[in-house]
Amino acid sequence: MKTYVWTLPTRIFHTLLVVFVLVAYITAEWDDFLSLHVAFGSALGVLILYRVVWGVIGPKYSKFSDFNLNATALKEYLFSVFNPKKEYIGHNPAAGYTMVAIIIVLLLLTITGFLTYGIQENRGIFAFLHSSFFKDMELFEEIHEFLGAALWVLIGAHVIGVLLDRLLHAKQETLKSIVNGYKNIEGESTKLSFLQIIISIVGIGLSIFVLVYALSVKDNMITAGYHQPIDYKKENALFVNECASCHILYPPSLLPKESWKIMMANLQEHFGDDASLEPEDTQNILKYLLDNSAEYSTSEASVNILNSLQNKDTIAITQTPFWKKRHKNIDDKYFKSKNIKSKANCKACHSDVEKGLIEDNNIKIPSMES
Ligand code: HEC
Ligand code: HEC
Repeated sequence: MKTYVWTLPTRIFHTLLVVFVLVAYITAEWDDFLSLHVAFGSALGVLILYRVVWGVIGPKYSKFSDFNLNATALKEYLFSVFNPKKEYIGHNPAAGYTMVAIIIVLLLLTITGFLTYGIQENRGIFAFLHSSFFKDMELFEEIHEFLGAALWVLIGAHVIGVLLDRLLHAKQETLKSIVNGYKNIEGESTKLSFLQIIISIVGIGLSIFVLVYALSVKDNMITAGYHQPIDYKKENALFVNECASCHILYPPSLLPKESWKIMMANLQEHFGDDASLEPEDTQNILKYLLDNSAEYSTSEASVNILNSLQNKDTIAITQTPFWKKRHKNIDDKYFKSKNIKSKANCKACHSDVEKGLIEDNNIKIPSMES
């Protein structure tokens, strides 16, 4: 006797969830994939909201009220796993708990993800929280990473549970049920109402729409950044003419005041070159550098560089602990290759650096030719 347990929307939800979680997890590893990560994370958030609604108004076995969430049921189930007294058509009590935990963790992951993205990157729907007040705040990022790890524990528990069930109660065909919807158990089959069909189309459709929108529309609400490019030539032409002639333009916001003071006091011995200027030009440029140093910037790069420096007398950005840590995975031979030449040639990989931006979307390592 077969019972139709998981309706089509529940199964589509499950498949999309697996795909979105996997892509979000993989793209979390690299800064250059951050906007992909956020796009998939947003679609995931909508999908989970749909699942919450589905848990309230969905068909019998998908409803939270069918989840057996009481401690006695869980105890009874765990003590009789090897010798089942009772068959569970929908989720068994252990699975019910895992599902609810996965849903809660995914909801919190989405929320903390958006908060981190807004506060630290000045991007997305919470970009308005990016401010000098919050600039040192990494709390949400830490919670986000913790939840990410917790999610894997839950997914592990879920997969182990399913495999155990496959061994112990093989003839119920639970594993297959997530593909075809049917379990080999006596019970009442589910059927969708018209309203449930409409809600599924809207919910799942919205999730896919959000993904496509975030991936394809330029400056969309979900991933748009609000750091404005700076026209240094307009702000201080002398600075650009004198300080971006031998190398790229280094934004004043990438070093603290103290570093600029030391550098500008020793221009005649500047990294092995004589970069000395007329005294009044030196003063003019020094003032500009000090007025726009890392201390006044809310950008992630400035905040991180500043926080990573103990004594602020380092005058090379590439010598700051933050820079070294961020680039430690890049092989030295890349930096020496023909298209890059030097670690200090930020522009080779960060096309926007001379506009005072170092956006994750714009990180590209050029192909290597030696
Ligand atoms: C005569 C050429 C010359 C001029 C003019 C010059 N620099 Fe440099 N600068 C260099 C060289 C050479 C390096 C070392 C670059 C490298 O490591 O590849 C350097 C490195 C730097 C670095 C460190 C880059 C890193 O490794 O993180 C900063 C910051 C910098 N210069 C700022 C300035 C400023 C500000 C001015 C204007 C006052 C200026 N430079 C003018 C030649 C010059
Ligand atoms: C060979 C290419 C290359 C060069 C040259 C390079 N970077 Fe990077 N940079 C990268 C890559 C790749 C990443 C991303 C690393 C990661 O995913 O963790 C990165 C990350 C960063 C970040 C962190 C971005 C963020 O949002 O977390 C900053 C800031 C940064 N680079 C600044 C600089 C500066 C300043 C220079 C020049 C002094 C420079 N980089 C030179 C390739 C380069």
